[in-house]
Amino acid sequence: MDKTLKISKIKDGTVIDHIAAGKALKVLAILGIDESNSISIGIRVTSEKLAYKDVIKIENKFLEKLELDKIALIANEATISIIKNYEIIEKFKLDMPQVFKGIVKCANQNCITNAGEPVKSEFMTVNADPLTIKCVYCKKEMSGEEIINNI
Ligand code: CTP
Ligand code: ZN
Repeated sequence: MDKTLKISKIKDGTVIDHIAAGKALKVLAILGIDESNSISIGIRVTSEKLAYKDVIKIENKFLEKLELDKIALIANEATISIIKNYEIIEKFKLDMPQVFKGIVKCANQNCITNAGEPVKSEFMTVNADPLTIKCVYCKKEMSGEEIINNI
């Protein structure tokens, strides 16, 4: 008897694989997935590369640059596979962007980007791992949960 439980392959869509165990729900939350997508989620599934990993499969969804940048902020270790007609047509690791524009809200309430002016937030990456980003306007540095809570 085959006792392994596998998440089905998908026909068309995106697989976000090798997410550090426990982060999948955060990734889903920032992607703002709604009822129109069929999604399979594996949380703490066993993996050869990592002891445990999370994996997300979203049918009929192809991610845009902004969405990939958001995932990089939370799960930079993830591998993205784009599936068309059951075949992997593209597979890549995420790049950590050097600049994040309009993605993260600055945690400094006095920052110009929080003053109701038409100024989009903008952060530079100061350190990739662990991730630290710096507001280009007020120089506030943010890392860890503070980033995730402000996406
Ligand atoms: N996948 C899928 N549907 C398909 C094809 C692939 O859901 N039609 C998923 C696989 O389940 C896997 C990911 O896409 O999670 C990458 O597929 P593949 O490269 O075949 O898997 P592995 O060799 O296990 O990948 P890796 O070495 O990156 O762990
Ligand atoms: Zn700021």
